[in-house]
Amino acid sequence: MPLVTSTEMFRKAYEGGYAIGAFNVNNMEIVQGITEAAKEVNSPLILQVSAGARKYAKHVYLMKLIEAAIEDTNLPICVHLDHGDSFEVCKSCVDGGFTSVMIDGSKHSFEDNIALTKQVVDYAHAHGVVVEGELGKLAGIEDDVNVSEEDAQFTNPAEVEEFVERTGVDSLAIAIGTSHGAFKFKGEPRLRFDILDEISKRLPNFPIVLHGASSVIPKYVDMINANGGNMPGAQGVPEDMLRKAAGMAVCKINIDSDLRLAMTGTVREYFAQHPDHFDPRQYLSPARANIKELVKHKIINVLGSNDKI
Ligand code: G3H
Ligand code: 13P
Ligand code: ZN
Repeated sequence: MPLVTSTEMFRKAYEGGYAIGAFNVNNMEIVQGITEAAKEVNSPLILQVSAGARKYAKHVYLMKLIEAAIEDTNLPICVHLDHGDSFEVCKSCVDGGFTSVMIDGSKHSFEDNIALTKQVVDYAHAHGVVVEGELGKLAGIEDDVNVSEEDAQFTNPAEVEEFVERTGVDSLAIAIGTSHGAFKFKGEPRLRFDILDEISKRLPNFPIVLHGASSVIPKYVDMINANGGNMPGAQGVPEDMLRKAAGMAVCKINIDSDLRLAMTGTVREYFAQHPDHFDPRQYLSPARANIKELVKHKIINVLGSNDKI
């Protein structure tokens, strides 16, 4: 099975009322945990790589790890650049074998976002690669994605048709109240499903992408806090809201923070229980196993992409 684009995945997901999980990968244990889970429940997958991940692990290592996972599992996998912020980084991922790239021009003006996105689409499409654009700004802080709450803004539905038409993007990330990281809501979680609904009416049969979609699973936050960590107030997107979005026009749901929390919680607990251990294989094995369990749970209970190959 070669690498695939997300075109067919999204078409089926839209029709079937489910979503494809787009999981961020940074090292071997994460790639293995995710792909072993998807294999067991027969799910298509998007593995996404951020600029920070490319800096940390190097493009070639991540690409080879993903190729190894495909050989091992025979799954249809799409490799996607997460939050590309320039034509150059998108081009380098297209040239380097990715089947999908995101150009995140959301920090620019509408016109500049269109011009940049169209430049990436022209290059990517000429090489058989699909493109995700973004309209609206998510709040949140991770390594290379940093937008303050004051700068965040919901997607304006009145702009989406013109954006898609003039850029030629294959999918569109929108802002409806999710944010990156582990602290997504101060009070009651709220998403603007009315905006999603309006966008899907204006863009019939068009795949929408939800970033910042980790649920910040309490089990792993508790594991962190019980073992020397300090993450009071961590809160994510409730699973029933994600299921609702997956039943609407959302075909791609981005998950990174949940993987980080599962890995960190597991490693913290391991060291609390085995303070004298120092073999990385000993603490990374349970971390990988918990990533696998987490991804299986997401696929079956949140995304609904199991048995869709
Ligand atoms: O949305 C951002 C992703 O979670 C990647 O984060 O830039 O820290 O790798 P990163
Ligand atoms: P989370 O921080 O909610 O996992 O979002 C990840 C994401 O949107 C990657 O692009
Ligand atoms: Zn994101």
